[in-house]
Amino acid sequence: MFKVINKENLAKEVTKIVVKAEQIARKAKAGQFVVVIVDERGERIPLTLADWDKDKGTITLIFQKIGFSTKKLGSLNPGDKIEHILGPLGHPTEIKKWDKVVCIGGGVGIAEAYPVCRAFKEAGNYVIGIIGTRNKDLLILEKEMKKVCDELFITTDDGSYGEKGFVSDVLKRLSGYNFVYAVGPIPMMQAVSKITQEYHIKTIVSLNPIMVDATGMCGACRLRVGNCTVFGCVDGPDFDAHAVDFEELSRRLKIFTEAERKIDAQFNS
Ligand SMILES: Cc1cc2nc3c(=O)[nH]c(=O)nc-3n(C[C@H](O)[C@H](O)[C@H](O)COP(=O)(O)OP(=O)(O)OC[C@H]3O[C@@H](n4cnc5c(N)ncnc54)[C@H](O)[C@@H]3O)c2cc1C
Ligand code: FES
Repeated sequence: MFKVINKENLAKEVTKIVVKAEQIARKAKAGQFVVVIVDERGERIPLTLADWDKDKGTITLIFQKIGFSTKKLGSLNPGDKIEHILGPLGHPTEIKKWDKVVCIGGGVGIAEAYPVCRAFKEAGNYVIGIIGTRNKDLLILEKEMKKVCDELFITTDDGSYGEKGFVSDVLKRLSGYNFVYAVGPIPMMQAVSKITQEYHIKTIVSLNPIMVDATGMCGACRLRVGNCTVFGCVDGPDFDAHAVDFEELSRRLKIFTEAERKIDAQFNS
């Protein structure tokens, strides 16, 4: 059992929890994720390690309450227990000295971009952060991102905060960078990939395919990357953006929509 130590609502439907998980905190690296099973009847939900504290033995998860299981997780309070947390899982993001790195986070993807930005900064890179959300009320981690970026650009689709437009609009006018990391909604990662492909700039995206077991056994998280079939859970979550088949990923993310809608209706009733 894993005890919830702290809980904070960061934005509409976005919650941060700090959980006691000593062994995971000791091994955690930027880009990795955990699988959370809220109670003994719970399904497995993959969530990125947004932060960790090796000394306190805690991990931080930031999640959007989008469906049945994330709403259940979001209903826990400090002192409550989570049945299981497995991890850290997935390959850590490859952190090296690229000189000038752009890290892009869209929506709740900002929480996933944050530890990666920090790791690139610690490795001696000049880090340009670009974060974007639909509107001001959904923006998270601005203060934290400012601390780990040399420059930070903020966009909102409706212009209610920062620059009006998309994160990709900012990327289009930047120059002199030699590596890009992006995480967020698929159309955003696709747009970023298209821009950098033209200039042959190495770009890594962190993908969130639907996962079931997260051990490489079930095949639920299957992806096409280049000419290969890979599994997001054990081969990822980071992949070469220019080789990812985003269309197939979008299609596969929708396969359980109807079943999830029914379960969600039960939660709300
Ligand atoms: C490696 C990895 C890391 C992730 N990290 C985070 C994170 O840090 N914060 C966060 O908020 N979310 C993250 N996700 C997405 C998160 O796992 C899903 O939102 C969650 O499983 C939805 O479960 P649910 O029962 O609440 O919703 P469901 O009712 O199962 O689904 C609700 C909606 O979410 C979509 N969905 C379901 N599973 C996923 C999925 N794996 N990825 C994207 N959309 C999905 C469904 O298609 C549906 O439209 C991550 C996913 C992966 C694979
Ligand atoms: S989630 Fe089952 S193989 Fe990746």
